[in-house]
Amino acid sequence: MDKIEKYHQEQLLRFENELSGDEKKELYKQIQETDFSYLDELNKEQKVELCDIAPIEALTIDKIEKNKNKYKEIGETAIKNGEVATLLLAGGMGTRLGFDGPKGMYDVGITHNLFIFECIINNLKKVTDSLGVFIPLFIMTSDKNDKATREFFEEKKYFGYSKDYIRFFTQEMAPCTDLQGRILLESKNRLATSPNGNGGWFNSLIKNKDAKELLDKSGAKWINIFAVDNVLQKIADPVFIGATISAGVEVGAKVIRKVDPYEKVGVMCLKNGKPSVIEYMDLGEEMAQKTDAGGERLYNFGVILNYLFNIKTMYEIKDKKLPVHVVTKKIEHLDAEGNLIKPDEPNGHKFEMLCVDMIELASTCLPFEVVREKEFAPIKNKTGVDSVESARVLLQKNGVML
Ligand code: UTP
Repeated sequence: MDKIEKYHQEQLLRFENELSGDEKKELYKQIQETDFSYLDELNKEQKVELCDIAPIEALTIDKIEKNKNKYKEIGETAIKNGEVATLLLAGGMGTRLGFDGPKGMYDVGITHNLFIFECIINNLKKVTDSLGVFIPLFIMTSDKNDKATREFFEEKKYFGYSKDYIRFFTQEMAPCTDLQGRILLESKNRLATSPNGNGGWFNSLIKNKDAKELLDKSGAKWINIFAVDNVLQKIADPVFIGATISAGVEVGAKVIRKVDPYEKVGVMCLKNGKPSVIEYMDLGEEMAQKTDAGGERLYNFGVILNYLFNIKTMYEIKDKKLPVHVVTKKIEHLDAEGNLIKPDEPNGHKFEMLCVDMIELASTCLPFEVVREKEFAPIKNKTGVDSVESARVLLQKNGVML
């Protein structure tokens, strides 16, 4: 319990006298297991990192078209040889959507049910059915949604995918604090915690015995990581896989051309000579508008959270530290009197590590351009930009019956 004193978190024991013996044990165990070092992030000085930003060359749609058959063949051969695995990032809280349950269980259908998880499996099956093979699918959940996610897949019979090729594993959690850095309680004997971002997927994957066993047994050399919310994305796309293998790089990143220079997406670039993603707010107006001699914008390719990582490289970089991002969010908690508070405004901090920061840890990356209207329909909100509404329009445009 030294850490309580060290980090000045005495408020966690505020209701200790009201707890039964077992409840006390649970609370102490959670305190023991929770990584308090996240709190150090709050005291770190915000250093402005000076770095050299340069454009990175992307494999654009016209170039892909010229070699499409070759890439497709290489990708399909890799899949048939068992060299490709897939991983769905589904540990997030999906708070913006405001749906009570894992985001993947959201029904985007209109005249019939069509769940987000179902869209994903359907997209994956397009490839596996055509090649007559199954590909391992790892599903990352968190303590908050693991049970519901597993039960849902079981109930829906894995939407026709082979259960033998699916493994669930949970990611790590991080404590949530108030704006002063005091860890909040979600009940009298439980700390408020939240998933620690999508950046820890590899270490959490290989920590899970069942998942690691399947990964090793499959002999996969590449792993396709993707977000739960893009219902149009291609998964295990042979052309993408073939292009990444042909380029001899460690990472492939699907990118879209920005609609305008200021679109709020992370943009691929070279940071101090290494492939990286610069956030739209760090890019600045001048850089966002910069063009080459032919009038093409130099920082024009945004990432869509669909990457192909070389697994050997992942083992090499797995112990490197990812930056921890502190985000301010609405966090349910107990107040000093023990009343449950559901805030309307952001009231505290969460800590996240992000998959996008992994790119910088590798040395080489291929930005691979995709047609936005065919492969990018993220569901973040109920209405407006990146919403159920906008995704439904795009799904219908692509021939998906709703
Ligand atoms: P988002 O950035 O959309 O975060 O995640 P979120 O938590 O799901 O949603 P909001 O911000 O609360 O509305 C992008 C992808 O990363 C996954 C999500 O499930 C989604 O597929 N993710 C996010 C994780 O797997 N773990 C996390 O801790 C966070």
